[in-house]
Amino acid sequence: MSKRLFIQTLGCAMNVRDSEHIIAELKKTDDYELTDEISDADLILINTCSVREKPVHKLFSEVGSFFKHKKSGAKIGVCGCTASHLGDEIFKRAPYVDFVLGARNVSKITTAVNTPKFISTDINFDESEYAFGEFRSSPYKSHINIMIGCDKKCTYCIVPQTRGDEISIPSELILKEVEKAAKNGAKEIFLLGQNVNNYGKRFSNSHEKMDFSDLLVKISDIKEVERIRFTSPHPLHMDDKFLEVFVNNPKICKSMHMPLQSGSTKVLRDMKRGYTKEWFLDRALKLRQMCPQVNISTDIIVAYPSESEEDFADTMDVLEKVRFEQIFSFKFSPRPLTPAANLTLIDDEVASARLSALQNRHSEILDEIVLKQEGEIFDVYFEELRANGAVAGRSFSNFLVQVNGSEELLGTTRKVKINEAKRMVLYGQLV
Ligand code: SAH
Ligand code: SF4
Ligand code: F3S
Repeated sequence: MSKRLFIQTLGCAMNVRDSEHIIAELKKTDDYELTDEISDADLILINTCSVREKPVHKLFSEVGSFFKHKKSGAKIGVCGCTASHLGDEIFKRAPYVDFVLGARNVSKITTAVNTPKFISTDINFDESEYAFGEFRSSPYKSHINIMIGCDKKCTYCIVPQTRGDEISIPSELILKEVEKAAKNGAKEIFLLGQNVNNYGKRFSNSHEKMDFSDLLVKISDIKEVERIRFTSPHPLHMDDKFLEVFVNNPKICKSMHMPLQSGSTKVLRDMKRGYTKEWFLDRALKLRQMCPQVNISTDIIVAYPSESEEDFADTMDVLEKVRFEQIFSFKFSPRPLTPAANLTLIDDEVASARLSALQNRHSEILDEIVLKQEGEIFDVYFEELRANGAVAGRSFSNFLVQVNGSEELLGTTRKVKINEAKRMVLYGQLV
């Protein structure tokens, strides 16, 4: 008889893919079916994120509620980044948790389920050549890891402590995965890593020299692949070769994530980001000039402990000059195990005011950007059925576009004329 699995995924795209790996591993030995009902599940998993404080608090309230609603005999497992950094403290705070599995130990899920109080949080465990099973939540788009871990030492960030050192996955394994996914119908390939454009610096085996630009070209040579996306590239590694391949390769989608973090060279130095305001602006503006249709998104942290009003003004200045199509912005959140953990915080009211100023100005810029899309025609790859007979997909430059339509649009690329542009979604019709 099949077993039921409930899995909740927090955090980034890496975690989403890890959840797919977990499901695939479990399905290798047992006939698991996914369920949305806790009370129905034989196995309840939460795949956690540690990047800010809030999701960690959420973890304990969530597992408490799982325990209350689960059926007798069902197991609860805590996986992912918070599992890596809290380890057996999770058992102490929530004794009803059955196992704890770190972000870099996903391949051990079957052992974890079958071993009482199993814990594995080794951040140097090497899964770079492990052959995970096959499970994909979308038939239209496939996420594929190209590296694990992160070698950077950004002072605010816990990720190197939860995912360990950076190791690139051998290119032949990546290409095999891409071919398999594309032959199964996924026309869009989404490459994942914490610093994708640092690919190839370290492998576990003796791999030929290869950088991210070379890898992109090899992937684009696979006939069935129509679109390639990736996240996250690091601004420091955006050399000319990378920008040229990005701009000139017709299969690479023209959207670039450029995590700024701060516009102030001083704060960037304090954060150990490795680039200056000028370098970031040079790269972003060169990209805009080489590729006018590009969409640029970013991550910004406001109120890093050493951020003065002047430093924040530098961040606003970069916002004005680059006019990002999308920003993900957060107040600095002190994280354990990081160099910035114990710095004196900026007053929360000041931090909130800076965050609002940034987000409000971005909204104004975005209104101007989206308004210009009315009347434009985009190639949209449809991937998602929405309520009330609508179907949504992404333009090549990553705008979310919605039209009236049905299933038969899914997995196809169609021309769409935009009639009405909103901040989050452009509404259009097939042409
Ligand atoms: N490797 C990716 C980032 C992964 S974390 C990169 O370098 O772009 C995703 C984002 O969370 C970061 O870009 C940063 O903006 C944010 N973040 C990380 N640590 C944070 C902290 N301590 N407080 C607030 N935001 C943080
Ligand atoms: Fe964190 Fe910096 Fe690594 Fe990104 S590059 S995961 S922000 S340490
Ligand atoms: Fe991702 Fe959160 Fe871990 S952002 S890398 S799941 S800490």
